Amino acid sequence: MRSHYCGHINESHLDEEVTLYGWNHRRRDHGGVIFVDLRDREGIVQVVFDPDTPETFSTAEKVRNEYVLKVVGRVRRRPQGTENPDMATGQVEVLGKQLEILNPSETPPFMLDIEDDEVAEEHRLRYRFLDLRRPAMFQRLKLRSEITRYMRYFLDNEGFMDIETPMLTKATPEGARDYLVPSRTHQGSFFALPQSPQLFKQLLMMSGMDRYYQIVRCFRDEDLRADRQPEFTQLDIETAFMHEEELMELIEDLIRDVFCKALEQPLPNPFPRMTYAEAVDRYGTDKPDLRNPLELIDLGDVMQDVDFKVFSGPANNPNGRVAALCLPQGGELTRKEIDEYTKFVGIYGAKGLAYIKVNDSKKGREGLQSPIIKNLHDNALSAILERTGARDGDLIFFGADKAKVVNESLGALRDKLGHDRGLTERGWKPLWVVDFPMFEWDEKENRWFSLHHPFTSPKEEHLELLESDPGKCLSRAYDLVLNGTEIGGGSQRIFRQNVQATVFRALGISDQEAQDKFGFLLNALQYGCPPHGGIAFGLDRLVMLMTGASSIREVMAFPKTQTAACLLTEAPSVVNDTQLKELGVRLRKPPGEKKD
Ligand code: AMO
Ligand code: AMP
Repeated sequence: MRSHYCGHINESHLDEEVTLYGWNHRRRDHGGVIFVDLRDREGIVQVVFDPDTPETFSTAEKVRNEYVLKVVGRVRRRPQGTENPDMATGQVEVLGKQLEILNPSETPPFMLDIEDDEVAEEHRLRYRFLDLRRPAMFQRLKLRSEITRYMRYFLDNEGFMDIETPMLTKATPEGARDYLVPSRTHQGSFFALPQSPQLFKQLLMMSGMDRYYQIVRCFRDEDLRADRQPEFTQLDIETAFMHEEELMELIEDLIRDVFCKALEQPLPNPFPRMTYAEAVDRYGTDKPDLRNPLELIDLGDVMQDVDFKVFSGPANNPNGRVAALCLPQGGELTRKEIDEYTKFVGIYGAKGLAYIKVNDSKKGREGLQSPIIKNLHDNALSAILERTGARDGDLIFFGADKAKVVNESLGALRDKLGHDRGLTERGWKPLWVVDFPMFEWDEKENRWFSLHHPFTSPKEEHLELLESDPGKCLSRAYDLVLNGTEIGGGSQRIFRQNVQATVFRALGISDQEAQDKFGFLLNALQYGCPPHGGIAFGLDRLVMLMTGASSIREVMAFPKTQTAACLLTEAPSVVNDTQLKELGVRLRKPPGEKKD
């Protein structure tokens, strides 16, 4: 067995004999002396072999990259002038006495002392077992493990029970497509992998478990992005007899505790709160990054009578919005940069990106530079300057369209400008977003959808709006946002069967469909269901933020690609006919052919 990890050797071990196991990170031949940088999960230590021990020396000559080695040697101080202050072990080295090659290695497909982005990600994922040897990957997985340990510790102390729920289950509606698993014993029927344990955790509250948590895998077949994976992990929590105020306080304590223990960084107490309506109004999004000082400024009322259809149209449309974003010192932007931002907002459906450069506001109209200025009357111009508070040298961007398009495009532009222009500060800005609408109208499908999920309780005082004006009905849902990422979301649940039935009706789910899909829940609601509510955190997202990683793939040991495949195992893969037959499944087309 090892006596020490390589990365732990330091001056306190001087003159000790140590036994180390690890990989050859790098070998250097220096005129008769061989240096091996021996690496294990905790770091690297320099081992020196000299010709005084000829057998060991000749073994050292054979060592190549990633050979697995056992070294026995004595720790000594590095000769003066050869210390390496950048290495934790840089004051010392090990004089190797015995060396054993436990296993040679093929030449690795990439060097392991690279940064994340120095090798194509595809390559890293295909050889993930090597990629994970890189210290950066180890550090991230180590912090992840610490974070979950602190979470468990906190929740165990608060009387929460860790209870597992099924993976082979029935579809639960979190809004994504399901991953299906065909049943062999019930041919033609399918299990769904859980999008979350939502209904099971509610049932556990009905069973009197009172405080539940689970660190649990969830499966969602949806379009992937940097912060979305088809399988990801939630810290899932549910409580009974706790009002949202009490629950939110407890959850804040949990998150503050984890940040304090894992990063030694304090978070504000309490976390600020904002309503959904205010967040969308001021930032164009329900997950604003509060480190960025820019805000959207409404101009609808002043644009109603301007002689510019692009603005007056949306200003007079109840579903429209005209808003501005004032960029300090934005006058420096070149035409090319403005064109690029115009292209960028196009991704979100914006048809253009009008702007005004404020060169010299004292000169009035003459001091402004813009392709749209001729279309705006003096009142509009002075209202723009006054509301945005623009100073000389600033640039004002405008969005005018359906409110959704303006919010999404200017919201995204706000983030981009924040980063591009160095306006987004460092540090942590958590935010509770509350008072979500119950429903969102889907124009394509022509029906209401739940903004959270169909088991979320409406606000008590909005119960009658469920039927009379669903669009105005607010829910008891809450999201926790950190630095512009939604790290968690939850709600108080419906615990009365008649309310649940009304919500299903508002969603256009027939009694029969509700019975087929959620009969077990409706049934359980009749047998003394306590008031209950909970939350789930995207653990991968939280760890991504805490480690400063650029995507959640960087904090998962074996993630999938953007097309939901595993390059390492080559899953998903074709299965043979016998297996399909056993499951009673026939393919509509041979594997590999395009789908219908
Ligand atoms: P929700 O759907 O908001 O709520 O999910 C909770 C949190 O999970 C994270 N998350 C994801 N992370 C990575 N990849 C994904 N594809 C992905 N999808 C979601 C987000 C999100 O905030 N059952 C409810 C919770 C509840 O009501 O208690 C639920 O799953 O960080
Ligand atoms: P146009 O009248 O199409 O030449 O546009 C004049 C200016 O308005 C250009 O700078 C466009 O980028 C901008 N613009 C056009 N449509 C919109 C829109 N919906 N929102 C904001 N700016 C727009």
